[in-house]
Amino acid sequence: MSLIDKCSLQAGDKRMDVESYMTLDHFETNGFIKYILRQIDDYRDVSEFLRTLSDRLRRHIYIEEVFLFPKLGPESQKDVEYIKKEHGKLFRMLDLILKERSNLDKIKEVLENLLDLLIEHYGYEESFIYDHFNNLDADIISGLKYPKGWEPKYFGDGDV
Ligand SMILES: [Fe+2]
Ligand SMILES: [Fe+2]
Repeated sequence: MSLIDKCSLQAGDKRMDVESYMTLDHFETNGFIKYILRQIDDYRDVSEFLRTLSDRLRRHIYIEEVFLFPKLGPESQKDVEYIKKEHGKLFRMLDLILKERSNLDKIKEVLENLLDLLIEHYGYEESFIYDHFNNLDADIISGLKYPKGWEPKYFGDGDV
């Protein structure tokens, strides 16, 4: 059971809001990347972890672009475009990670870059975007699955 599910249960009567849900997902994803990096240092097979990371991060981005950002007003569109460009880059990095999954040195390098980008990306979203969602019940997104093959708006732009 994920930390998010545990917190949802412990919250009892008070439902989790979208801001808390997505912020917790940031926290869990970064923790998971650090865990994978430690496994690589111990020469463990991380291919399943990489698949899980990819699915998890793609789902998070899908939820933001398809379900959350369209709820924002015109005053947020500049921030949203900036964030969407980073989503394109994150998807390309995930593709690279899956493609290179047997090359641990390369995977480690890309995962470290991914973590750096995510720390900055998450900080931006949590500072400028997520507080618009603190009155929305997380039930509207918690059951959503990533539809395989969906790509973010700027997936095709630029190198990794
Ligand atoms: Fe994002
Ligand atoms: Fe996010």
